[in-house]
Amino acid sequence: MTKRLAVIAGDGIGPEVVREALVTLAAVEDVFHPGIQVEHLPYGADHYLRTGETIPAAEMQRLGSDFDAILVGALGDPRVPGNEHARDILLGMRFQLDLFVNERPARLIDERLTPLKGKTPRDLDLIVFRENTEGLYVSVGGTFKQGTPDEIAIAEELNTRKGVERIVRYAFAWATGHGKTRVTMADKANAIPAHQLWRRVFDEVGREHPNIQRDTRYIDAMAMDLVRTPESFQVIVTGNLFGDILSDLASILVGGLGLAPSANRHPGRVTMYEPVHGSAPQLAGKDVANPMAAILTLAIMLDDLGVHEGARVVEQAVYDAITSGIGTADVGGTMGTRAVGEWIGRRVRRGSAAK
Ligand code: NAD
Ligand code: IPM
Ligand code: MN
Repeated sequence: MTKRLAVIAGDGIGPEVVREALVTLAAVEDVFHPGIQVEHLPYGADHYLRTGETIPAAEMQRLGSDFDAILVGALGDPRVPGNEHARDILLGMRFQLDLFVNERPARLIDERLTPLKGKTPRDLDLIVFRENTEGLYVSVGGTFKQGTPDEIAIAEELNTRKGVERIVRYAFAWATGHGKTRVTMADKANAIPAHQLWRRVFDEVGREHPNIQRDTRYIDAMAMDLVRTPESFQVIVTGNLFGDILSDLASILVGGLGLAPSANRHPGRVTMYEPVHGSAPQLAGKDVANPMAAILTLAIMLDDLGVHEGARVVEQAVYDAITSGIGTADVGGTMGTRAVGEWIGRRVRRGSAAK
């Protein structure tokens, strides 16, 4: 049975890291034969600048109905200073396909990769569930008297009962399913009364999971504690903007954005997979970007598509690379993007043959 994968490589380092994820996928195909058919979609800054088109509505619809998975590199280009193409394509997928769960795990592979003194892999194994369809990202608001001294810029933060409840439920259900004992929720209810909604829902839903400890923090203290006592966090659930910030912070605690995978989900629908990092324009075209985040993202996808052993072998290949000192400069290595991708591809073939 074939599976259909849509690939939007996007901008900057996006195509470079996606290329290596697909090198890894080719190795998985050779060994496990999952039959994943790749279709490349051209959307990104180049396409937008050439045609004026971000992503056609029919294509967005097709992404939701015709594919088993979507893999994205990154979107964002200095030639599009308003970032409108990235909003239409990336936030477009999240909003229009209603992918309300942004799952961003952060697990330390090797002690050497954390900037935190004395912390080990046992201290750093957490997952952020970021609400992905509401919050400050909804573009509700506008500007008035733009370009004058009286300019006003308003962005409303949207929190719906339904939206808060479904992400909080997802986080507790995930924690229960994965043997976790604590869920932490971060908000700013002391300054933003609307965030009381998060507290009430968290409490109500949490009471349905008596074996899971409920922990609430204000976002400022949360950011501090993530650095001070990362071992106290297992599962974090929070709103869209706070989740964006905390997931970059969590990534650097375990080696940086070059290692951080993510999945954008709505159970029962197509999932969109992407590394947490952006298009890093200053690294683009230099063969220096770390492809491991994209490759670990691929592993999450393989697992979801039922290619469990393939997923495990890919993950292990990345771990083996890190522990053998193989990698790009951001993780202390001396290799280029392509060489790392090729090493991991070879490892996947060998790792599975060794059994
Ligand atoms: P960024 O994630 O591109 O880069 C942040 C820092 O991390 C930079 O120092 C960069 O060099 C480093 N970095 C990122 N990925 C790396 C990798 N694979 N290997 C090694 N180092 C890596 O964030 P930014 O600079 O704030 O944004 C650049 C552009 O990307 C902007 O247009 C932004 O809007 C966009 N962006 C897109 C996404 C996405 O598509 N999901 C995510 C974040 C940012
Ligand atoms: C991310 C990115 C995006 C976000 C940007 C590019 C709009 O930072 O995926 O984390 O803020 O969600
Ligand atoms: Mn981000």
